[in-house]
Amino acid sequence: MQGSYRHDDACRVCGKEDLADIVSFGALPLANGFIAPGARDEEEETYPLDVAVCRNCWLVTLRQVVDPARLFRHYVYVSSESDQIRDHMRRIVDLGTRQADLAPGDLVVELGSNVGTQLGLFQEAGFRVVGVDPAANLVEKANERGVESIADFFGPEPASRIAERHGRASLVLGRQCFAHIDDVHRVLDGVEEVLAPGGALVIEVPYLLDLLDENQFDTIYHEHLSYFSVTTLRHLFALHGLRLVDVERAPVHGGSIVVTAVREGTGREPAPSVTGLLDLERESGLTDEARYRRFAAQVERVTGRVRDLVQELAAQGARVAGYGAPSKGTQLLMVCGIGERELEFCSDTTSLKHGKLLPGSKVPVCSPEEARERRPDYYLLLAWNYAEEIIRKERAFLEQGGRFIVPIPEPRIVSAQSVKEPI
Ligand code: TMP
Ligand code: ZN
Repeated sequence: MQGSYRHDDACRVCGKEDLADIVSFGALPLANGFIAPGARDEEEETYPLDVAVCRNCWLVTLRQVVDPARLFRHYVYVSSESDQIRDHMRRIVDLGTRQADLAPGDLVVELGSNVGTQLGLFQEAGFRVVGVDPAANLVEKANERGVESIADFFGPEPASRIAERHGRASLVLGRQCFAHIDDVHRVLDGVEEVLAPGGALVIEVPYLLDLLDENQFDTIYHEHLSYFSVTTLRHLFALHGLRLVDVERAPVHGGSIVVTAVREGTGREPAPSVTGLLDLERESGLTDEARYRRFAAQVERVTGRVRDLVQELAAQGARVAGYGAPSKGTQLLMVCGIGERELEFCSDTTSLKHGKLLPGSKVPVCSPEEARERRPDYYLLLAWNYAEEIIRKERAFLEQGGRFIVPIPEPRIVSAQSVKEPI
């Protein structure tokens, strides 16, 4: 059953109709649409998933846009409580404070504020905070913990309401949400509305360069409409009178960039990090269609290798399960054609997911406690962005002869022997 969506011929950033198709994943269910056990036999809605690149501003984009209300009004993604993310959020407080030159009591506005974990840290550091997120269920949680949050899609109206009630924001922050946003121009109109004249906009997105270099094809799914480089973000910000002045790479979500923009006219010049990454992107072929053709070929090859490896192990009688049930894990299983026959279950720390089935592959999700009892021979590491942390945590599993299959950039097996030194 096909769900409804909009098909795009124009680039979301620059508006030009000059998109080159790169790779098509066929029609797939939504990666975050976990299925209640009672609904397992109901037909799932599917949507085509086609990736293209803009030959003008080099945005990598999906051709299809699923209604955001369908995707984000009730959202099961809760920002991770992992050590890695907690450390990163602390670093973002330092970075935001530095980039926006924050003084005690200044206002910090976050878009896509989820359950308010990041803003809670800004609040503890002595700043006033307001969050905006379309997911009413998550906003309720944020308000319960004392982080003032509004359930809405960010844009000029919520922005001017915030400005009226709280004044202008010295820092506007958007962590890992820009890739989800269809009308990025409306969001940046909102930023123009609420940002103080000398304030800073700090945006964190997964980095296209890392996606291509590490072959992270599983991070491509319907929720992620855009895949950004510094080249494209600079172009986008300039259309809104904002100048990209700094960028840092961060090791989260498989490799991200944290970019800072300020209003044109503040006189602030781009830091060397900006020109450094613009050069690197050009040298790496991000502004050349051929690079994307190579990526498509690599996706084809690696998905085949992952499928063959898991199917061979299962055929030999090995018990294989998934470690983590992130959206990209759902996506990886669907794209590689791995399902219930090969995987017994996926373990995940998110209680909202327990007892549900993964969309497409229909693999059931259970708690880490249950997984420990059922102990498979192999874990396919679907949450590969936490590989170090997970392998360290699962030392006992490895020492008892358990193994991890790390699927990307190329599938490899990790055993106690291959982790010789403590990480
Ligand atoms: P994320 O990459 O979008 O943060 O999602 C990671 C998923 O992996 C999330 O559903 C939680 C899960 N997870 C585990 O099950 N165990 C772990 O040790 C970690 C770090 C994450
Ligand atoms: Zn474009």
